[in-house]
Amino acid sequence: MPKEQIFTVAANEPIALDTYLLRLQGDTEGLSYPGQFVEVEIPGFYLRRPFSIYRVLPGELQLIYKVLGEGTASLVDLSPGTKLKVLTGLGNGFTVVPTPHPVIVGGGVGVVPLQFLAESLVAEGIYPEVVLGFNTAAEVFLDQELRALGLNVTVTTVDGTAGRAGFVTDALPANADYFYACGPTPMMEALLRTTTISGQLSLEERMACGFGACMGCATPTASGRDRVCKEGPIFTRDELNVDWNTETRSREES
Ligand code: FES
Repeated sequence: MPKEQIFTVAANEPIALDTYLLRLQGDTEGLSYPGQFVEVEIPGFYLRRPFSIYRVLPGELQLIYKVLGEGTASLVDLSPGTKLKVLTGLGNGFTVVPTPHPVIVGGGVGVVPLQFLAESLVAEGIYPEVVLGFNTAAEVFLDQELRALGLNVTVTTVDGTAGRAGFVTDALPANADYFYACGPTPMMEALLRTTTISGQLSLEERMACGFGACMGCATPTASGRDRVCKEGPIFTRDELNVDWNTETRSREES
């Protein structure tokens, strides 16, 4: 159930190009599923903004955000002690599917929820391969944290300045039997074109209410139209209608 809570900024520090780790102190009891998200009321802005959950520790919620516009740019100035209103308990979260050779695939800021997912898989004795994609070396983050879990992590960059030159789809393990993915729509499209294995995708969508009331985030699915914020943001490959990518991409480009 969505719940509005007050969190206090404990730290807000850069970890990669235009990318910041925001540590918030407060009650984290209801934050239990990897892939869920929160909506943060940014001081001075009317609409709350959705953020993937990076990690949840006792009494500490960690978010990672990328500066993409005025709202996220203003987050950079938040200093320790600032109180923020945060709507928690949003989204369905990833489901752990026990298969022998899963792969986690992340692109850009879409890698954020994959640490929490990887920790959940490892806790169940499942050690996925990880493939992360970025544009350039300065954008790379979370590779070390995922390796620290004992996972084999392949980094790809479009310009070849870190890891393997190319895209995540160039580095998918041949024996992968299930995927968990989060990233921009073109990456998701390419993933679905490249592999026929089953998996779960975390969709990125513009959101207004964030808890299912406005239908602003509805996307075509096999069962009609589902709300990314409520029925999602995680959908299985089979649940997605073939048109979801066309519609999502046209919104991203508008
Ligand atoms: Fe309002 Fe999803 S953002 S229904």
